[in-house]
Amino acid sequence: MKILIVGSGGREHALAWSMARSPRVSAVYCAPGNAGIAAIATPVALAPNDSGALADFAQREGIDLTVVGPEGPLSQGLVDLFQERGLRVFGPTRGAAALEGSKVFMKNLLRKYEIPSAAYAVFDRREQAVAHLDTLEFPVVVKADGLAAGKGVIIAADRAEAVAALDLIMGDRAFGEAGNQVVLEEFLAGEEASFIAFTDGKTVLPLPSSQDHKAAFDGDQGPNTGGMGAYSPAPVLTPELERQVMEKVMYPTVAAMAAEGRPYKGMLYAGLMIRDGEAKVLEFNCRFGDPEAQPLLLRLRGDLVEVLEAVIDERLDQVTLDIDPRPTVCVVMASGGYPGEYSVGHEISGLPAAAAVEGVEIFHAGTRLEQGKLVSAGGRVLGVCAIAATLESAIARAYQAVDLISWQDCRYRRDIGRKALHRSGGPADG
Ligand code: AMP
Ligand code: GLY
Repeated sequence: MKILIVGSGGREHALAWSMARSPRVSAVYCAPGNAGIAAIATPVALAPNDSGALADFAQREGIDLTVVGPEGPLSQGLVDLFQERGLRVFGPTRGAAALEGSKVFMKNLLRKYEIPSAAYAVFDRREQAVAHLDTLEFPVVVKADGLAAGKGVIIAADRAEAVAALDLIMGDRAFGEAGNQVVLEEFLAGEEASFIAFTDGKTVLPLPSSQDHKAAFDGDQGPNTGGMGAYSPAPVLTPELERQVMEKVMYPTVAAMAAEGRPYKGMLYAGLMIRDGEAKVLEFNCRFGDPEAQPLLLRLRGDLVEVLEAVIDERLDQVTLDIDPRPTVCVVMASGGYPGEYSVGHEISGLPAAAAVEGVEIFHAGTRLEQGKLVSAGGRVLGVCAIAATLESAIARAYQAVDLISWQDCRYRRDIGRKALHRSGGPADG
């Protein structure tokens, strides 16, 4: 089989790594990929949002299966186009991807089908939204309706911050059309977890739980990023809570999408807030999480291609996942300044020694080769992952590898996974 992966991050490297192990796969292509992916897959110089050119390439090259990493192409209808052309593709259609692409659609769906989530109201005019603030308690969460590269959610501590957020989204139109509507949402306190599953529109097959670290700095301080690290499993999601999430969130959402005439096939990612034994939905993503995909795929034994094909052919009820019981962790190494301004093009050293640490797997995000040298090329640069018998030793292995890698101004969190150690009563160092 020939596989095409669309995207260029750590998630796509982990997908390529996992699928390249399949005995059925003869070649992996990645558009556009990065320096790490290029070591195991053939790079294709096409942008992820250039659906037409990607479909042409898939037809010309005889690609048997295309897997889409990021949300942009899914929201723009890449899957619909591939299906029209008779090409096999993994991911939700444009209509189904609205679960991530429109927060208004998502919130209205959850309310209609009584799926647990935060209270909210929708506005298409700034003045009405500002007036509504007087009826709310703070903090309040202000969300642009559409995709905004993870920047469209603002937690406002008081009225002035909420007005500033509304001005940014609806006045300055910082996120363009994504800000045509806003959601004002109740602030939920608790601990976040990611619940990611395969679904063929009927059966939901969950991966183990995971937890992202969205804040830039240790102790969950600083601005939100795409994710500075992750681990799996997340002990906050107890077996009882996992059952609850399957019963009250995952299955009802898949049934709701079918009832709305938008059958959902692909990865379904629920971002959850957990408090007092109850899980509420913060968001849905229509794709694998990044970095969560990295520690999750490191635990997936068996053949990922088989699972993806079962989703496309709607026979997921016949599949079981073979999951490594050992925990995994991923420490993201980023450019100094990320998620704000940063510089790129710095030579990365120490990778071979780091990759040789037992249990360690390194996925590339923003890297490229320049005159034969590996250099940084993005905000998130590497995902240094490790597997071990205990989470504590997986964390130790990952940081042992991280400490061997360096480039100018590189930056990472030192506390990835620590929350889980505290929770499971393991050693606490601060
Ligand atoms: P979203 O893109 O909707 O997941 O929002 C991004 C991040 O904002 C989430 O991962 C949470 O950390 C935070 N967030 C979103 N909605 C809420 C909420 N209702 N209460 C508290 N935090 C939230
Ligand atoms: N790590 C969060 C996301 O992929 O959206």
